[in-house]
Amino acid sequence: MIVLGIESTAHTFGIGIVKNGKILSNVKKTYTTKKGGIIPIEAAKHHKKNKEEIYSEALKEAKIKESEINVIAFSQGPGLAPCLIEGMKFAKELSLKLKKPIVPVNHCIAHLEIGRITRVHHERIPKKGTKTSHEASKHFSEKCLLGAKNPVMLYASGANTQIIAYASGKYRIFGETLDIGVGNFIDNFARYLGIGFPGGPKIEKLAKKGKDYIELPYKVKGMDIALSGILTNLKQKIESKNYSKNDLAYSMQETVFAMLVEVSERALAHTEKNELLLGGGVACNKRLQEMCKIMCKERNAQFFCPENSLLVDNGAMIAFLGEIMFDSGIKFSFEDSNKIDIKPRQRTDDVNVSWK
Ligand code: ATP
Ligand code: FE2
Repeated sequence: MIVLGIESTAHTFGIGIVKNGKILSNVKKTYTTKKGGIIPIEAAKHHKKNKEEIYSEALKEAKIKESEINVIAFSQGPGLAPCLIEGMKFAKELSLKLKKPIVPVNHCIAHLEIGRITRVHHERIPKKGTKTSHEASKHFSEKCLLGAKNPVMLYASGANTQIIAYASGKYRIFGETLDIGVGNFIDNFARYLGIGFPGGPKIEKLAKKGKDYIELPYKVKGMDIALSGILTNLKQKIESKNYSKNDLAYSMQETVFAMLVEVSERALAHTEKNELLLGGGVACNKRLQEMCKIMCKERNAQFFCPENSLLVDNGAMIAFLGEIMFDSGIKFSFEDSNKIDIKPRQRTDDVNVSWK
């Protein structure tokens, strides 16, 4: 069984190919800007221009012919409508051409489900009693085979910031941002500092050089967080020219990531789960990973964090979830593809998780 997955919710056009739960290829191209944020129509044009090339590369990397594809999965939502349309159009074209079924996938749940094949994130410390490094690495890889089974997920991406966990038939949102997503927040902060999109990786670099912590508002409200007030505060501090960029970046990370970790910890306590899975582009941040790891260690929970290529938007996670959904009977035949539409505002808890 070979599933092709198409991702196009925002800045990234990606195609991944999965065979029986194993990733054969994961190719993507991301729309970036030197200054300023993402323009949806421009991102959609970027996807249209690059889709054929990404498709050929994905087939080549997976070493398969297009006739071997059994199912086509695509990101149906949530996302930017012009970008989603490009992905859906391509999915329908392929489905009609190859006469293969389509599986529409929720992008956020794909970020979550990829945790099933994510290795547990722990130091490579040999178990007591293991003598050789070979034995130690065997022990390590055995542990790695276990993916997250029933995690609380901290989903920290551009547009979304949610604490999600499975409970009676759905992935429920236990907490979320009350205004903007943490990635968009960081990108806006970066824009005020005169840095282009995406700002996250550059802010992480500046933060490493920061030394002095600058007091910022800390906004946790029950299980939710709020970020726009902190953004305004940061903007004022930048305009005052009294603070170094490095210290501001460092203080922003320490404050905002502490807020994320606090609500994640509370969700673990409430749900009595003992696995935390990190997902979304902001999860690439090493300081956020470190803070999550410390919290998990303190409460004896396991911490899972996919590799970067599976954290940012990518086609492999769409193919991976597409296969699980197809196996459970969710599909549209190519003749019915006109019944499928994009869902730009689809929420995680709108989806009936019938495959679990
Ligand atoms: P969504 O899943 O909500 O549709 P998205 O499509 O915007 O989100 P992702 O690829 O999951 O995208 O995440 C992109 C975000 O991740 C951007 O805002 C980017 O700045 C942020 N990001 C990437 N690397 C880092 C990093 N090292 N530190 C902080 N943020 C980062
Ligand atoms: Fe995403």
